[in-house]
Parts: sequence; C-alpha cells; structure tokens
Amino acid sequence: MDKFIIHGGKKLKGSVKVSGAKNASLALMPATLVNNGINKLYNTPELNDVYTMLKLLSQMGVKYSFNNHLLELDTSSITSYEAPYEHVKKMRASIYVLGPLLARYGYAKVSMPGGCAWGPRPVNLHLMAMEKLGAEIQLDQGYIIARSNRLKGNYINFDIPSVGATGNTLMAAVLAKGNTIINNAACEPEITNLCNYLIKMGAKINGIGTSILEVEGVDELKPAEIETIPDRIEAGTLLIAGAITRGNIRVIGGVTHHLHSLLSKLEDSGCKLAYNKDYIEINAEDVEVSPVDVTTAVFPGFPTDMQAQWIAYMSLANGTSNVTDTIYTDRFNHVPELVRLGADIIVHENTARIVGVKRLTGAKVMSTDLRASASLVLAGLAAEGTTEVLRVYHIDRGYQKIEEKLKTLGADIERVEGSEY
Ligand code: UD1
Repeated sequence: MDKFIIHGGKKLKGSVKVSGAKNASLALMPATLVNNGINKLYNTPELNDVYTMLKLLSQMGVKYSFNNHLLELDTSSITSYEAPYEHVKKMRASIYVLGPLLARYGYAKVSMPGGCAWGPRPVNLHLMAMEKLGAEIQLDQGYIIARSNRLKGNYINFDIPSVGATGNTLMAAVLAKGNTIINNAACEPEITNLCNYLIKMGAKINGIGTSILEVEGVDELKPAEIETIPDRIEAGTLLIAGAITRGNIRVIGGVTHHLHSLLSKLEDSGCKLAYNKDYIEINAEDVEVSPVDVTTAVFPGFPTDMQAQWIAYMSLANGTSNVTDTIYTDRFNHVPELVRLGADIIVHENTARIVGVKRLTGAKVMSTDLRASASLVLAGLAAEGTTEVLRVYHIDRGYQKIEEKLKTLGADIERVEGSEY
C-alpha cells in the first residue's frame, strides 16, 4: 500500500487544472449500456473508481479504449448482466448498472452494496423506483435480481433526493414505455451531465437541473459523445489547500457555478476570491482565518463530500466552528486522525465542534475513506514537521494524482510505493 510523506508549512502558489468529475464519469459510463455501439466520453479522469467501473463493464462484454482522457465504450456485444460482489464491494456506484441493464435487457443481477466506512448506505430508493417502473425485484444471497418486460413510465417520488437513485431511475425511464416523472430528484451537476448525455443519445427529458424531471420514454437510443464536467470536489479540495497553507492559487477548470456554497464560506473565513467562468483564484496570504459554521445539504448547498476538508481547514481557524453533516450523519472517521495531528475536535451526533488551534504537528495518520484522506493531506500540508498519510489507495479512488497537482503548487509531498502499511 502506498503512503504520502508530507513536509508541511509550504504556502501553495501557482495554477492547477481540475480533472473530469469522478461522480459524473461513474454515471456516464454505465449510461452507455442503454445503447448499442461506440460511445465517446471526453475528459474522463484516470481514477481507480473509473478503472473499477471499466472492469465491471468489460466483464459484461463492453469493449473499451482509454487514451488521453478519451474513453471509448463499445456496447454492441453485451454478454452478461451481472455486477458481482467483487466489484460492488469496492465501489457502491456499481449499482448504476441496474437501471440501464433492466431497461435495455430486461434483467439485471447486482450485488447488494453493504454499508461503508461511515455507516449504512441503503438502496431502497433505487429498488422502489425500479418496481414503480414495472420491475420485479428479488433479493437472493446478497444479490438484487431484477426482471421486467418493457418498463412502463410512472410517477416516482423520492422522500430524500438521492443522486444515485435519480441517476439509476433516469437510465431506466429513458427506455420505458410512456412518461415518467421523478419528483424530488437530485439536482447535482453530475445528474445534469447525465441528462445531457442521455439527450444526446435521443432521450427526451424536461426539467433538467430542477427537482422535477419529466422523461418521455423512447424505443431506442443511439451511441453518443459527451464532455465530462470538471470535478467540483477536486476543485474545492485544491482551493482549501490554498486556504489552509495561507497560499495564493488559481484553480482552472470552469466549476465556479457548481461551487458557490463553498466559495461564499471561504470568503466568510477571510480569504480573498476572484473568479470567472474559467478559473477561481484564492488568496489567503496573511489572512487570519475566521471560524465559519457549515451544514451539508443537497446541491446547491454545501456538499457532504467537502465536509472533511472543511473540518481540516477550520481546525486552524481563529475560534470555534460547528460542522454538521445532514446527508451522512456518521461521516466523521477523519476526526480522530485530525486530532492525532493536534486538532481540537469533538463530535456529538452529526456535528463536529472544532476549536481552532494555533498549529498542527506532523504525525502518522491513517486514511479511512476517500474524502477523509483528502482532509488528512490538507492538514499535513499545513502541519509543522512531517506527516505520513497511510493507505492512500482511498484518495486514489477519487483524485487523479493529487500529489502531482499539489507539487506543481509547491507542496513538499512524496508518494512512497508499496510501503508496509
Ligand atoms: C453520491 C456521490 C457521493 C456523495 C453523495 C451525496 C456518486 C458516485 N457518489 O452518492 O460522492 O457523497 O452522492 O452527495 O455520485 N439514501 C437512502 N436510500 C437510497 C439511496 C440513498 O436513504 O436508496 C440516502 C443516503 O443514505 C443519504 C442520502 O440518501 O443519506 C443521499 O445519498 P445519495 O445521494 O444516494 O448518495 P450516492 O448516490 O450513494
């Protein structure tokens, strides 16, 4: 397992470009299963989660080539309709194959995703939606087995706006007979990217970007190409790297309108921001960081995927802040590790109370999940002395060579391959 060694205390400076969005790619790739032919996905990030999805799709018979961020997927010879446990256990987004397989082939067998490092993550909304569209669902030996004749459009109401369930339902409803309304749909930009891709294939979807999506099913969809949107969470993490090191950096990639909640919180904390449609600049030089409370919410609220990084940033603020996660109420595995670096944080229910400290000091810390490991890297960049972040395979799931990007900004960070941890 690889680890990072970080010598903290360098103020980051310079420009860095954002990669394509992991969570968009993980929806766009299985969406190709609804058609028959060669699809092109531009700006696909080279991430472990993308490679896991590629393994899953290729064992179903999808042929692919992946060069220079152009991913070509040929869906003309699908031979298996199964997502086995070995893939789903690595990545919950594997459940995204359920909707498209069912819609196009009338059958899907997908391993039930279990809980994850920060608690239970149910799939009841995915299953409810498939049943509403006419599928018969059985749960057997850890697998979801879904069967249907042609799906039929229906009215689907989500009690919670789930990104995954909205995506899965869209990929099924586009080939259903008749109209589907998805009420309380997720409005995340990655869902908009998916809608735009399905439209390029010939799907009919109204209300894109809103919480009510209307789908008019069609008989057939054709292969298409699309540009993956930039990764707003990677962009946000890099901005906090600038802020936590009291640096001055420019993040290039055109995600400003996906990040307003974070940008305004960064401004509240005292950072100076300048942005346009192509880049965001953050200047935190000589800034005395003020404590700023955050409560996570669905888009356009503050993303749960930025919660851990915000806690790392607030651990060096001049005062006390509260960070509440309403989406994943148990997602605080990073806190004990940040405390090992000298942070003063107590978690009560779904709120972390962070008393800002004057300094963090380097130590060995353990990554437990993707965004937790990002928060440890951020803390390590600001800490005095040497921080070792172990088990960085978590961070490799969702950040494309994060250490290379940070190095271009002047960070002192090295990957040590195959260490004993
Ligand atoms: C996606 C993102 C993940 C992000 C999350 C929330 C991908 C691949 N992953 O995950 O990075 O943290 O959105 O923005 O896009 N829920 C149910 N029943 C369900 C489904 C979800 O109760 O069937 C609940 C979840 O427990 C959670 C909330 O709904 O409390 C939102 O989860 P959801 O939007 O579905 O997250 P994912 O799609 O898994």
